[in-house]
Amino acid sequence: MATTLTVNGTEHAIDLPDDVPLLWVLRDALSLTGTKYGCGVAACGACTVQIEGQAVRSCQVALGDVWGAVTTIEGLGTPAALHRLQAAWIEHQVAQCGYCQSGQIMQAASLLAENPAPTDDEIDAAMAGNLCRCGTYPRIRAAIKSAVEGA
Ligand code: FES
Ligand code: FES
Repeated sequence: MATTLTVNGTEHAIDLPDDVPLLWVLRDALSLTGTKYGCGVAACGACTVQIEGQAVRSCQVALGDVWGAVTTIEGLGTPAALHRLQAAWIEHQVAQCGYCQSGQIMQAASLLAENPAPTDDEIDAAMAGNLCRCGTYPRIRAAIKSAVEGA
């Protein structure tokens, strides 16, 4: 029986086994390839999406365990109406290769939804599980601070 999954405000009937990781449902079944595969073991954060606003590692959440509406980087903003983090990312030219960046932004968006004015330490703690091989950490922190200040 197909599983009903709401992603970025649209309901989908997903005809895949319950144990398929959400990451592959998003990428392969729904062609939402902004969410990336990095490690597959919850160690990098490249696959971060939100379920009911909470940041989760989609490589570790089985389709059958998704408990609510999913938001991916494709649903966070639009080209005409960017999320304030996306605008800050552009302003600070954060991305280098870009591979980790959708996960970084989704993690940061969850942080700001829970804590609209995080301290530097709180930003670092919230973002500690999102790795960037290109070392864009200083620009990530600057962009988050700028999004906070511009809110
Ligand atoms: S691919 Fe999911 S945490 Fe690395
Ligand atoms: S921008 Fe290259 S891995 Fe983060």
